[in-house]
Amino acid sequence: MKTSLTEMFGIEAPIFAFSHCRDVVVAASKAGGFGVLGAAWTTPEHLDQELRWIEQHIDGMPFGVDLVFSPTAVDLGPEKDPVKLLPPEHVAYINGLMTRDGVPELPPGEFESCYRNYSESLAFTPKESEELLDVALRYDIKFVVSALGIPPAGIIERVHQAGLPVGALVGTAEQARKQVAAGIDVIIAQGSEAGGHTGTVGSMVLWPEVVDAVAPVPVLAAGGIGRGRQMAAALALGAQGVWCGSIWLGTTESELNPDLRDVLYGSGSTDAVITRGYTGKPCRVLRSKFTEAWAAPEAPAPLKVPYQSILSGGPFRRAERAHRKDWMTYSAGQVVGQMTGPTSVRQVVYDMLSEYADAMESLDAILSD
Ligand SMILES: Cc1cc2nc3c(=O)[nH]c(=O)nc-3n(C[C@H](O)[C@H](O)[C@H](O)COP(=O)(O)O)c2cc1C
Repeated sequence: MKTSLTEMFGIEAPIFAFSHCRDVVVAASKAGGFGVLGAAWTTPEHLDQELRWIEQHIDGMPFGVDLVFSPTAVDLGPEKDPVKLLPPEHVAYINGLMTRDGVPELPPGEFESCYRNYSESLAFTPKESEELLDVALRYDIKFVVSALGIPPAGIIERVHQAGLPVGALVGTAEQARKQVAAGIDVIIAQGSEAGGHTGTVGSMVLWPEVVDAVAPVPVLAAGGIGRGRQMAAALALGAQGVWCGSIWLGTTESELNPDLRDVLYGSGSTDAVITRGYTGKPCRVLRSKFTEAWAAPEAPAPLKVPYQSILSGGPFRRAERAHRKDWMTYSAGQVVGQMTGPTSVRQVVYDMLSEYADAMESLDAILSD
């Protein structure tokens, strides 16, 4: 396949695979696509290990890194003490519900260590993200992506000085215009169907709006793509490639534990719901008792980024330890309904390309008959 983005990155297929899991990144790039490692949830030391591993296993194929440069994220300060950070009312609300529902409590000390671990791993402020960028730029990455909002000018400049393009996710045409004005080279237009933080405009409307708003800047279509016909639609609407996140969760390479995989394979499209209970911002995740708890009228208002994510850490660990699938959740988009059992990253890429080719043939036949 040939689009401006296959040319820019020297790849065979314009399929970009976002994942927090290094195995997915490697497998996607080796399958002819382009793996991008989500690094918003890591420490510089851990990112260094992950990128070293990727370089050792990716056989020289290109890959990228995705960071969060959120201007509104609060710096937790040096102590990152979870006990002081979280309002007791919030901790009591969600954990009380779990206790009443028979989910065993965590062993003494584990609650605090879990919150501490979450607070240390969350890198959402521009300063923390720049430390991660310092690490990333020591490796042979080919693309830096900003997950939320416009990255600071100094960051864009640094990445450009390193000779790399900068991408950014957007959920509206207006955001796309602002990103391009700030110097962003590739726009990732993510429709509301997507897993993770998401907006309100659906992909079918968003993609052509963004393509028209920023032309000739290339656009990757995201949100609701997991198969070839969806890819064909995205390219027909003017995108130069696709950016997928959820579809990799169902692969054998993904980070999900066996319980979460069961939840994923058993979920339909309507089970991917938007909640603020996960991170504090609207985020599409798998429906469970956890998401329902935060939708209840008596629920306290979710905390700001990154406190709500830290607060979620304890309940997630509790559900995991007790194998309580009814309390488990994870970011996932509406394509979850397409995932019914394990597959591999290579198979997903292959199936996508093969269905894409079939779709193009059917469309050609409409014209020629
Ligand atoms: C588990 C998960 C975690 C995500 N985390 C991030 C993130 O840290 N940074 C980011 O830019 N996008 C993140 N996203 C969004 C993806 O980059 C991508 O835009 C989205 O998954 C595309 O829609 P899809 O889920 O329908 O494939 C995440 C998505 C999922 C499913």
